[in-house]
Amino acid sequence: MTVFENLQQIIQDIEAAQPQDVEALEQFRIKYLGSKNIIKPLSKGFRDVPNEQKKEFGQLLNKAKQDAEQKFQGLKDNLETAADEAVGDDLDLTAPAEPIALGSRHPVSITMNRIIDIFSRIGFAVAEEREIEDDWHNFTAMNTPEDHPARDMQDTYYLKNSTSMLLRTHTSSVQARTMTTQQPPIRIIAPGRVYRNETISARSHCQFHQVEGLYIDKDVSFADLKQTLLYFAEEMYGVGTKIRLRPSYFPFTEPSAEMDVSCFICDSKGCNVCKYTGWVEILGCGMVDPKVLENCGIDPEIYSGFAFGMGVERQAMMQYGINDIRLLFENDVRFLQQFQSAL
Ligand code: PHE
Repeated sequence: MTVFENLQQIIQDIEAAQPQDVEALEQFRIKYLGSKNIIKPLSKGFRDVPNEQKKEFGQLLNKAKQDAEQKFQGLKDNLETAADEAVGDDLDLTAPAEPIALGSRHPVSITMNRIIDIFSRIGFAVAEEREIEDDWHNFTAMNTPEDHPARDMQDTYYLKNSTSMLLRTHTSSVQARTMTTQQPPIRIIAPGRVYRNETISARSHCQFHQVEGLYIDKDVSFADLKQTLLYFAEEMYGVGTKIRLRPSYFPFTEPSAEMDVSCFICDSKGCNVCKYTGWVEILGCGMVDPKVLENCGIDPEIYSGFAFGMGVERQAMMQYGINDIRLLFENDVRFLQQFQSAL
């Protein structure tokens, strides 16, 4: 067989080839397009071809290479389309989707949302602020300067390489953030996470949540505070709930009080939630100390106001009969999915 005939045979073979699968196609590629393909040696026979046939031979060589390339691409596309269609056979686009597992609200969020909702109804706006706070907003502005003994009750975590940046110990820092950036009248509630350097036990944790309230305007009195808190207690714990204010001390309020509500578990008959006193402590409150207003650039001769702050976990625990605060932070779905919320 001459090189000519050889080449013509190859061209015919390429045309006739019918690789049916990926493996056969790969064999085809190696044979006609690979680095040791069978067309290559024929180009060496070029010099033995008589001069007058050289042109034709060159054209045939090119045709062989192009045919191989074209056939390969065509077959490859066919195989890929076939593979896609095969997958398509199993894929029923009309089938109902896999159900998405629905989560449930965290009991702390449920309780916090209820508190927010109650205060929103009487015009309090939600103010959210940073958890990493500076010393001034958390302590000094709140009338608790360095060396003030009240700082001992709220030890916290300080940022590495900084003595002034800390994790806020209470949402009262939002009072300072708000009063330094807004002019009265101010009427906000500030929900959020706070931190304290405390040993973790069934009753205390190094992180928990508070909701702060702040109301500043002209002629705000203690009676306004008391009425607002009574409204809250009745909305939160039921109509007929009684409140009791006990004198207390906070550096940023004067006078200060602690508020108890009549025990909603036993209807004040005595149980272990109220420790047989008929009352449960809910929050701290008082009239904003004039020094705090002054620190934040508000004239205490013109304005006065009240503030309160309540822990969320304790209220959630009482309401749901949870006896260990750690359960609230373990994120065990079996525990968390027991709580249902309307909000
Ligand atoms: N910040 C206080 C605390 O964490 C609570 C409080 C807020 C008291 C506002 C009075 C007024 O204990």
